[in-house]
Amino acid sequence: MNLLKPTILAFALAAVPAFAQVSVTVDTTKPGPVINRNVYGQFAEHLGTGIYEGLWVGPQSKIPNTRGWRNDVVGALKELKVPLVRWPGGCFADEYHWRDGIGPRNKRPVKVNTHWGGVAEDNAVGTHEFFDLVEILGTEAYVNGNLGSGTPQEMAEWLEYMTSDSKSTLAEQRRKNGRDKPFKVAYFGIGNEAWGCGGNMKPEYYANLYNHYATFLKTPPGARPKIIASGGHGEDTTWTDVLSREAAKGTDGISFHYYTLPTGDWDKKGAATGFPESEWFSTIKQTMRMEDFVRRNVAVLDKNDPQKKLGFMVDEWGTWYDVEPGTNPGFLFQRNTLRDAVVAALNFNIFHAHAERVRMTMIAQMVNVLQAMIITDKEKMLLTPTYHTYKMYIPFQDATSLPVAVDNDVAYSVNGKSVPGISASAAKGKDGKTWVALVNTHPTRASEIQLNVASQNVSGVSGQILTADAMDAHNTFDKPQAIKPAAYSAKAANGKLTLKVPAKAVIVVSVDA
Ligand code: AHR
Repeated sequence: MNLLKPTILAFALAAVPAFAQVSVTVDTTKPGPVINRNVYGQFAEHLGTGIYEGLWVGPQSKIPNTRGWRNDVVGALKELKVPLVRWPGGCFADEYHWRDGIGPRNKRPVKVNTHWGGVAEDNAVGTHEFFDLVEILGTEAYVNGNLGSGTPQEMAEWLEYMTSDSKSTLAEQRRKNGRDKPFKVAYFGIGNEAWGCGGNMKPEYYANLYNHYATFLKTPPGARPKIIASGGHGEDTTWTDVLSREAAKGTDGISFHYYTLPTGDWDKKGAATGFPESEWFSTIKQTMRMEDFVRRNVAVLDKNDPQKKLGFMVDEWGTWYDVEPGTNPGFLFQRNTLRDAVVAALNFNIFHAHAERVRMTMIAQMVNVLQAMIITDKEKMLLTPTYHTYKMYIPFQDATSLPVAVDNDVAYSVNGKSVPGISASAAKGKDGKTWVALVNTHPTRASEIQLNVASQNVSGVSGQILTADAMDAHNTFDKPQAIKPAAYSAKAANGKLTLKVPAKAVIVVSVDA
């Protein structure tokens, strides 16, 4: 006889009131660290239609473009105030040889993108094109170097090509290729996922190679990028530990990757749309693991790097589902729903809570790949719920984090497992306003949140909400506005400010005095 079952049932019934009443308190008197705007970074890899078609159509295309970069996509991205773009990979970075991507485009070699779909890579987008995109977007560049199949010389020469203001042959070659002044490389990564596609290394071996390669990375004074060591993933903190001890000299950050898989099983990850509630729940549960991963890695950094020189750079994260049926499995194309918006917001709230160390993150990826902002099909383009979440959270870029307490939260529980019902984050924006972000993770239960802002008179809140009836609500080319943010406001009454928060919703509001 299974004695456990009735207990679980009773627990599940007790834990699901129709309406949750929660209290959220923001303390404006104890400002915390600044939320680095680079937490809102993006990743663009030579993968599927992430760059070719999604962003780059070439100057001859009928799709309106600026020197090859499509105007519709770039225009939408500009509205996100993207602070930083990582390129050219990912796994692709450790197979990328930068010299293939310079000079006249019709003379560039055509390679096979062996990692992603085995398709032809004609190198139409190379260093100059990438920096053109960076400058059009008004963003900064995070260039990821090839440690896996390159050499220290090749890596050093790429950095010299990009940053030298001298009369060296490489700097002159850059000028001949159309760029007089050096490119600004804000971040430079030495390899990617060295534990896997980047070379299947042990952390100690990578640490040696990292130090070796880093020794030869030289730039003119003032042009040195922040250098990123390629770290670990998931629950293992070994890479953070080894690298923060063995590869910390001159290093600005250690990277970390974690993807949300609904099932946690790489062979059957779960569908992007049409999923059951059990996979809504497991997706939230898997996403919330990020909190634990960040906390444990930060504890390792605090031990090995008490001066806090090193950042913890989550330079790949997001949902990873089974690919859309009928598409190239190597292209990692998936639909993007309200569930992705909730996942993005939960991750933001976690990153804000660790703003001191989490100084940069990149969602994977910007267009058409995994948890994308934008989906294109030839000349058509649509904005995803994830895009809308990024836009709603713009006030948190470079804002000063504020402590938030969530009291009386009613957990969202399924089969004896629980996640927080409400996730909250707050910050003092650069505009001087207090901003609050709230996520209701429950797919059917609304909440009433009493919002208290310590030592501030509050008359109400105003901002935006993203929600929908269906868990997998998403935009299509036929209905591109099926899910989009709506205005949201609430007024205080009798000294109390109560926010009605529908099920499965993301809300970002500023507090009105
Ligand atoms: O984002 C897709 C891939 O996921 C990246 O290329 C790689 O770094 C990670 O495994």
